[in-house]
Amino acid sequence: MHGRLSGMVALVTGGASGIGEASATRLADEGAAVITIDVADGADRLVDVRDEATVEATMAEVVAEHGRLDVVVNAAGVAGGGPVHLLGQDEWDRVVDINLKGTFLVAKHAAGHMLAQGSGSIINIASIEGLEGTEGGSCYSASKGGVVMLTKAMAIDYGRRGIRVNCICPGAIDTPMLRSITDPDGMTTYTDRMREEHLLGRFGEPSEIAAAVAFLASADASFITGHSLVVDGGFTAGLQVGLLEQMGL
Ligand SMILES: NC(=O)c1ccc[n+]([C@@H]2O[C@H](COP(=O)([O-])OP(=O)(O)OC[C@H]3O[C@@H](n4cnc5c(N)ncnc54)[C@H](O)[C@@H]3O)[C@@H](O)[C@H]2O)c1
Repeated sequence: MHGRLSGMVALVTGGASGIGEASATRLADEGAAVITIDVADGADRLVDVRDEATVEATMAEVVAEHGRLDVVVNAAGVAGGGPVHLLGQDEWDRVVDINLKGTFLVAKHAAGHMLAQGSGSIINIASIEGLEGTEGGSCYSASKGGVVMLTKAMAIDYGRRGIRVNCICPGAIDTPMLRSITDPDGMTTYTDRMREEHLLGRFGEPSEIAAAVAFLASADASFITGHSLVVDGGFTAGLQVGLLEQMGL
């Protein structure tokens, strides 16, 4: 497409589906060599982001094969949660381990190579639920809030070494993850309400998050680090209280 990322090497977790898949496509369109990892078929490599030994080995193999590592996108993640008094420890561990520990492990083993190189851009996919609570958010919100703060902490630690670390906080994006919540019977009221809370009146497309990923990966974002970029169709802008009609809009 624009060639903004020509010559760069990018690794995308969760690259078999949704936001990760769209990000991988967009980064490649803009000229990067892209390697996807996932636990699902369809990625270049089957890697569980909770498995530190495999994450470390994969990172080393990518650098050995491609000579460098410029961009890492942490998009692997799972939905989950419930009110805490009903939440099993297994569910807490599953969601926090994949969403937060997985992000940590991938960033950890990318950072070593980026430090040696003196450059890099790490982009974590957090969520608006890492900035604001939602009903039953519990472990999901906790994991995504953790990703927001991990992003800031890493940006502080690595800024002087040429590594930028940012996160994106998407609103509801039309992916298999969202559909696993909205499609089951009985979810129509929730789905309509959620859609309505996005001021643009619709869910986002994975490509709209991928566009933000490509921006943060590129030199166009060369002075941006430690930032949480909200891409949410206005979900977090404020309340719609129903006054507009009276006001003539
Ligand atoms: N879809 C949304 O509305 C939305 C909103 C905000 C944030 N997010 C976040 O965006 C990211 C991508 O979500 P999505 O909507 O594209 O979901 P998705 O289910 O379409 O894709 C997630 C991918 O992560 C992979 N994955 C899960 N566990 C893994 C593991 N242990 N190791 C490696 N890969 C693993 C899955 O196999 C899947 O391919 C997630 O972190 C999610 O929390 C999504």
